[in-house]
Amino acid sequence: MEKRLFSSLLLVVLFLVGESHCKKQAGKLGHFYNVKLKENSGIDTSLFAGIHHVKRASKVHPQEGLKEKDRIDRLPGQPQVKFSQYGGYVTVDKSAGRALYYYFAEAQKSKESFPLLLWLNGGPGCSSLAYGAMQELGPFRVHSDGKTLYNNLYSWNNAANVLFLESPAGVGFSYSNTTSDYNESGDRKTAEDSYVFLVNWLERFPEYKDRDFYIAGESYAGHYVPQLAHTILSHNKKTNMTIINLKGIMVSIFSSCSSSSISFSHTSHRQSINSIKLETWSTLWHIRLCLLDTLFFSLFASFQRVE
Ligand SMILES: *[C@@H]1O[C@H](CO)[C@@H](O)[C@H](O)[C@H]1NC(C)=O
Ligand SMILES: *[C@@H]1O[C@H](CO)[C@@H](O)[C@H](O)[C@H]1NC(C)=O
Ligand SMILES: *[C@@H]1O[C@H](CO)[C@@H](O)[C@H](O)[C@H]1NC(C)=O
Repeated sequence: MEKRLFSSLLLVVLFLVGESHCKKQAGKLGHFYNVKLKENSGIDTSLFAGIHHVKRASKVHPQEGLKEKDRIDRLPGQPQVKFSQYGGYVTVDKSAGRALYYYFAEAQKSKESFPLLLWLNGGPGCSSLAYGAMQELGPFRVHSDGKTLYNNLYSWNNAANVLFLESPAGVGFSYSNTTSDYNESGDRKTAEDSYVFLVNWLERFPEYKDRDFYIAGESYAGHYVPQLAHTILSHNKKTNMTIINLKGIMVSIFSSCSSSSISFSHTSHRQSINSIKLETWSTLWHIRLCLLDTLFFSLFASFQRVE
């Protein structure tokens, strides 16, 4: 009994400390960010050079009627659900024939008031549909028969309208008709394409244009997420308009609280470790990351917009 009380108290204290600490962190991050952008900071800012100038007007294409075309009535083997889902392509470069694939699961309830959250898996080269949506935070999981789906109780669309993007071209269903595009990919191009994707997607789903917007991702998306955020903010600033209403970002090593099986898939290359050790390691890792995720979440909750 005492132990339980102590644990509860400890959790509350940790949470409160985490909260105030996170506010400080957001301040520090803002400060760091401002220093970094000063010309004489001595920090190499060239990495950002290419993503300030996406010419929005030339990149936004008409999207009428495409939203309804993208509607998914039902995925194969899917249980009945009440929320809407969509999937389809958004062209990000007409002349090259480059298009990115998205899967969008609207919130289970109150989709009008919940924010829009973009999810990006890392890699580089991991599919946000195969990993993020189907094994981590999406509304469904795949049964071991490989043919049917079941509801994921902990799906993030309990609290947000979740947009999964396959990025860059060459990952998952995203592609380019210009083969050399695959040779010339890189973080800068990824940010630019994702930005063009977003402004066009928002034309297709205009009801989300002013919605609070968050970007979250894991692993290598620790590069994608802040670079895309930077691209969004610099375009908002340049045009003096809130083109995308970015409110916060979240990055994590990988989404761990969703399932321990994902830990397995991430460790499967460690064939030399025997399965019992692997299981123990995976469980411990899982618990540790769950705690970390909790901290990330409080950071997420108190993240102030970086100007
Ligand atoms: C790529 O080429 C195919 C076949 O010609 C075409 O159907 C498709 O629309 C092209 N994709 C883009 C994004 O232009
Ligand atoms: C891609 O790059 C490789 C190595 O640099 C080169 O051999 C190949 O021809 C390139 N392919 C295209 C389509 O540009
Ligand atoms: C930006 O917009 C605000 C509000 O609409 C306005 O007060 C301000 O003067 C604008 N700044 C520039 C540089 O256009």
